[in-house]
Amino acid sequence: MKIRIMLCALVGVLSAAPVAASIDIVKKARCVACHAVDKKMVGPSYREVAEKYKGQADAAALLALKVRRGGAGVWGAVPMAPNDASKISDENLKAAVEWILAGAPS
Ligand code: HEC
Repeated sequence: MKIRIMLCALVGVLSAAPVAASIDIVKKARCVACHAVDKKMVGPSYREVAEKYKGQADAAALLALKVRRGGAGVWGAVPMAPNDASKISDENLKAAVEWILAGAPS
């Protein structure tokens, strides 16, 4: 009984707290197969992305949509494939994009 109450409290805390935006999210979602924090791979580095969209108010929404649907033509000829919800949840996607736009701090 006591354990059950503790579990409920824990679940409550976990779902209320924002996802800690960090490299862990993009590792888990396998974004790191194509992106690194500070060097270009298949896709642009996250620091480059942060630099490009600095000061652009709608960048977070724009980039979240792009990651979800995939797209091409901004950084070169190679397209990014769509990343559906089975790869990254809406919540984690939002957190990941915010983390990227903040310059991918470690
Ligand atoms: C298969 C390789 C691949 C994977 C996996 C991948 N990306 Fe990309 N990503 C790319 C490429 C290539 C581009 C450049 C597309 C372009 O030029 O428009 C890109 C571009 C981006 C951009 C910049 C978009 C823009 O329009 O400026 C962001 C942000 C991004 N990716 C985030 C992510 C995140 C987050 C994930 C994981 C959920 C992810 N990517 C997974 C290849 C990938």
